[in-house]
Amino acid sequence: QTEISRVRNLEKVQMGDSEIEPWYFSPYPAEFTDVDIVYICEFCLSYFGGLTEFTRHRKKCTLQHPPGNEIYRDENVSFFEIDGRRQRTWCRNLCLISKLFLDHKTLYYDVDPFLFYCMTSRDEHGHHLVGYFSKEKESAEGYNVACILTLPQYQRKGYGKLLIQFSYELSKIEGKLGSPEKPLSDLGLLGYRAYWQEVIVEQLMEREVEGGNMPMLSVEELGAALAMTTNDVLHTLQNLNMLRYSNKNHVIVLTDAAVASRERQLEKEKIKGKRSIEPDKMQWKPPV
Ligand code: COA
Ligand code: NA
Repeated sequence: QTEISRVRNLEKVQMGDSEIEPWYFSPYPAEFTDVDIVYICEFCLSYFGGLTEFTRHRKKCTLQHPPGNEIYRDENVSFFEIDGRRQRTWCRNLCLISKLFLDHKTLYYDVDPFLFYCMTSRDEHGHHLVGYFSKEKESAEGYNVACILTLPQYQRKGYGKLLIQFSYELSKIEGKLGSPEKPLSDLGLLGYRAYWQEVIVEQLMEREVEGGNMPMLSVEELGAALAMTTNDVLHTLQNLNMLRYSNKNHVIVLTDAAVASRERQLEKEKIKGKRSIEPDKMQWKPPV
């Protein structure tokens, strides 16, 4: 896979109101390497090497949201489900954008086996793409996410957490345990670790009975409540130093440090506003 190690080929891309500097190589047509700015239509995701062409396109393009069903809406964001087989060009264009910010292998052409869950923010002009994750229609390994991306102009605002939470809410509806496809990128790992830590500690704090005693709770029960694999629960608890062994069994211990860290986070959320998916607003059934 020689193209993957190739150097960054685009100088700058413009998408919606943002100018973005790509991080990595992405297989856009070779002639795009020579232009100063690649213009990407934020709705249909088509790309143009010149402003004239792009302006002409924008006058004609009627799309105002990702080309699929809106399966979630709250005050801040919506999610659209897009079938790679039905919207091949749109999904290939999405993968091309995505590769600009992903160092490792992604598929650009064979989008048919995937569903794409696209998160948008609304204004009077339409639904603006914020991020997405892809998911195999049939994953032999039980992965609930293949690729995940928050567009750089929206990163570090809590949107990644929303994407991850949404992927687990889908798994809950499916009655399955999910885990993201490996290997994760460094940023992917940071995002997932933060999410796993938060939901596990939150669950334990909710279940903690008065007096500080943890009712007997197994790693498997915790995983089932969160649609997380036993492995991911175990690793998270180990990282947090919250796992003890007693008579060859795992015992989960909610540490003061974990509670304190969660309380700091809650304080932060009080100031910045808490963003989270409201499961009762999901309009979704597993595809048949
Ligand atoms: N440095 C340190 N911690 C980070 C981080 C960074 N650059 N980015 C995310 N985190 C951790 C933090 O704990 C953060 O919480 P905080 O902001 O309250 O400290 C937490 O993850 C959640 O961040 P959030 O704002 O919800 O994530 P995001 O919208 O920035 O999206 C990714 C996270 C991984 C989706 C995003 O970085 C991305 O798209 N990266 C490029 C593509 C990629 O690598 N995808 C994963 C492929 S497997
Ligand atoms: Na998991």
